[in-house]
Order: sequence, then structure tokens, then C-alpha cells
Amino acid sequence: MQPVAAPSHRFRRLKRSVALRSMVQENTLSLGDLIWPVFLCDGVNTRQPVASMPGVERLSLDQVVKAAEEAAGLGIPAICLFPYTDPSVKTVGCEEAWNPDNLTNRAIRAIKAAVPEIAVMTDVALDPYNALGHDGLVVDGVILNDETVEALVKMALVQAEAGADILGPSDMMDGRIGAMRAALEGAGHQGVAILSYAAKYASAFYGPFRDAVGATGALKGDKKTYQMNPANAEEALRLVERDLREGADMVMVKPGMPYLDICRRVKDAFGAPTFAYQVSGEYAMIMAAAQNGWIDGDKAMIESLMAFKRAGCDGVLTYFAPRAARMIRAGL
Ligand code: PBG
Repeated sequence: MQPVAAPSHRFRRLKRSVALRSMVQENTLSLGDLIWPVFLCDGVNTRQPVASMPGVERLSLDQVVKAAEEAAGLGIPAICLFPYTDPSVKTVGCEEAWNPDNLTNRAIRAIKAAVPEIAVMTDVALDPYNALGHDGLVVDGVILNDETVEALVKMALVQAEAGADILGPSDMMDGRIGAMRAALEGAGHQGVAILSYAAKYASAFYGPFRDAVGATGALKGDKKTYQMNPANAEEALRLVERDLREGADMVMVKPGMPYLDICRRVKDAFGAPTFAYQVSGEYAMIMAAAQNGWIDGDKAMIESLMAFKRAGCDGVLTYFAPRAARMIRAGL
């Protein structure tokens, strides 16, 4: 009988103990990787659960300040604000978007006054304020690009004025980054960073978010004339290149888990700070399966976040941020 040849490589040697496994671990998830998206609502001492996102609540101003304090205490570097807008405030002209005293701008000021060390990021898009639910201005059923960019610039300027550290244009209109950057420079806001939602796909995974911001009822049709076709990858690289050239400091791929190939390609092609957004539907999937006892929620969460690091991301927007931060602090 022939002797069995020894395997040329015994990969199991380095898997024998915690010590050896940790020595050869290639990627790590740390507190600095987390950006926490939170939802705002009117009122005082109010926390409204979002049914399709178990564990996520809309927070009134006093409560979002508490959340920011909690985040800073945990070591989370940034918080990102999304307003739930009452249908009575939504208009076809989206004027509330650039009201210096709208919910988002009041929240920016309250957080920066109470917790100056946390970076405040905002969403620059018209959908929370649009009676027609779109990220752009709609006239006769058509989403107008350049008029929307003008509106977004007004919105960006009041957010910068309120003290936002990072603006997140998520609208996918053409030319918005360049226009915003020029306006920020002109208004003395040279220090305000832009994290462009550069490769944002027209995705079914945004459903729970639209519930959270109250946009579900308003939106007629879909966002396919401005968000990306999920079948495309080369276009993502061209969009990122364009946004970096127009003055974006950082870029985002969104959603996250179904688009890890895009994260990797963007990071490899440009080397720019690259973020992924683990969106509401991704959060909801993990939570739903965990609540049914079908997967281990903590383990699935950490595995999903580590995947972004492995794909080359510098960080991730995730509704899991505080939960992940607690696990990271406890040593995972
Ligand atoms: C809209 C916006 C969306 C999200 C962030 N900004 C939804 C959309 O494009 O319809 C989705 C985030 C999530 O699903 O968690 N400007």
C-alpha cells in the first residue's frame, strides 16, 4: 500500500489556538470604523420605535443629544442624522430642506453644543421634505437635475452653517459635488468635509429606511433615473472618479453587503477613504433572522461588519454601531 503523502501546507497549524489565530488575523474591526445613522423626530422626551427596524427608534432632540453622548462615550467617532418629516411640512418645492431651523439643523446645533467631540454627518437630499418622495425636484413627472443641485447647495450651506462636520450628498444628481464644494469655499466653510454617496444603487434594501423617515407613502414609482442599476460595476468607478475630481473627500458604496465587490474595486482603484452603508434592509434581515432564533445576531453582526474591512473599507455606516462598539470594547 502506498503511504499517504504529507500535505504540502498544513493551514491548520496556525488555527490551533486563539493566540496563533490572532497572530495571523489580517483585518480588524475597531471603534474608529463606525458611523451611527440615527433618525430624528419632533417632540420632547420622545422615542418612536421603527417597526421594520427592531431596536431602532426615532429620537427627539433631547434624546438624540443623549444618543450622541452615549456614542462619544463608547468611542464612536461620528453620528449621521436623518429626519422624520411630518407630511404637513412636505411640499413639492421642498422648501423645508433649507430652513435653517428645520429638525436636522436644530439637531446639529444641539449635538455640537453638548458633545463637540463627535463628528456630525448629515444627509443632503430632498426626499424627507418632498411631497413627491423623490430625492430631486419633480416637474411634470420629470426629476430636474440642475434645479435640484441648486436646492441641494442651499441645503448644504445651512447644514454647514449649523455646524455639520461632514455632508453626505445621497441624491445622485449630476454635478452636485462640484457645486457644493464651490459654495462651501465661497461661504467660508473650507473645513467642511464631503462624504459623497458616489455609488448608490436603486435598491430594494432601503425599504425600512423609507418607513423610518416617513417617505414610503409619498414616493410614487422608483429612483431608477438617478440611482444606479444593480447590474453595473464599471459605472460605479466612473462615478467615484467624477465625485473625487469634483471635490469629495470620501466616497461611499451603498448598500453594503450585496456590493462588497464594488467596495474592493473602488478602494483598489482610487485609494481614497471609502465607506460602505450597511443599509436598513440589511439591518432588518439580520435582526429578523436573529429574533426568530435562526442565526446568532451578535456573531452575524460582527461577521458582516468585518466583511467591509476585508473588502477594503475604511469604515461603515451601520445601525448596529452602539451594539458593535460595546462588543469591540468587550474584546469581541
Ligand atoms: C435618501 C436616502 C436613502 C437612504 C439614505 N439616504 C433612501 C433612498 O435613497 O431612498 C437609505 C438608507 C437605508 O436604507 O438605511 N436620500
